[in-house]
Amino acid sequence: MNEAEAKSSLMAIDDISDELAAIIDWAIAFKHGGDFNLDFKPLEGMSIGSIYEKPSTRTRVSFEVGVSRLGGQPLTLLSNDIQLGKSESIADTAAVLSRFLDGITYRCFNHADAVELAEHATVPVINALSDLHHPCQAAADLMTIVEHGDRVNGHIAWVGDGNNVFHDLLLAGITLGYDVHYATPVGFEPDKSVMGRARKIAAQTGAAILGSNNPVEAVSGAGVIYTDIFVSMGEEHMESKANAFQGFQVNKELVAHADPDCLFMHCLPAHRGEEVTDVVIDSPNSVVFDQAENRMWAQMSLLTYLCNNDAWHAYKELE
Ligand code: CP
Ligand code: NVA
Repeated sequence: MNEAEAKSSLMAIDDISDELAAIIDWAIAFKHGGDFNLDFKPLEGMSIGSIYEKPSTRTRVSFEVGVSRLGGQPLTLLSNDIQLGKSESIADTAAVLSRFLDGITYRCFNHADAVELAEHATVPVINALSDLHHPCQAAADLMTIVEHGDRVNGHIAWVGDGNNVFHDLLLAGITLGYDVHYATPVGFEPDKSVMGRARKIAAQTGAAILGSNNPVEAVSGAGVIYTDIFVSMGEEHMESKANAFQGFQVNKELVAHADPDCLFMHCLPAHRGEEVTDVVIDSPNSVVFDQAENRMWAQMSLLTYLCNNDAWHAYKELE
């Protein structure tokens, strides 16, 4: 992305490092704004299209409802129903959709496709999950952690795959000053270039990043334990991948090493009995459904910030 595109599109959560704390604060204020928000329609007259190459429950519903609440028109574009990837290029699709829409969200297999769409679109493009990043999830996750601020110590632990959800959780967590300790099986470590970016941010914020292949080490004393499915969408052909994750299940024995008040977090959908037990995901420590709800509030802040920045600032000043 060039500088102009980096300002108006969101490919990874570190595209908005400088504003992340304010975007989260705005989302929390808006969530609790009640009737005060009824007249706030920053997307009035705007249409936001969402392209999905993979299934979605939370992302799809939270964008559709969030755009409507902000006065805009949401359009869901399932990849089977549109020309993209069949008889039309990403560049031409971006140019055409930019003539109709005021913003595009894109859930895709290859991160490079999201970057290409953003390069050729003249409206903001939001990555709604790629193989490498899931920035909307991270914004909602950090919002959830900040909301539970009183009980969360500054140590976030990740147990599982070094995947898309982890990359943005790491980048967002260290941006806001949380230490991130992660444990992955050998061979499933996070992406090296994302780690390079993360280390640069950590050097500025003073947050610590500690990686190992030992779940107990990662969660010891943690204020947050986060996990995700072992085999992500698009990896279904890697049947044997899950075998590498023995010992990486978040169960009550593992949680016993963390702070007793720790939050259990998961982006969902969860494969209960695989990466997490029912006892943990249904425990009072679990905030997984807060995270799901916060997808909508965090994305409303992001959409307003990206598509109507003046209104975003105006709302902040009203608080
Ligand atoms: N967490 C998340 O992105 O869920 P969906 O796949 O249901 O959108
Ligand atoms: N890592 C998972 C997240 C799903 C929301 C995937 O990419 O399938």
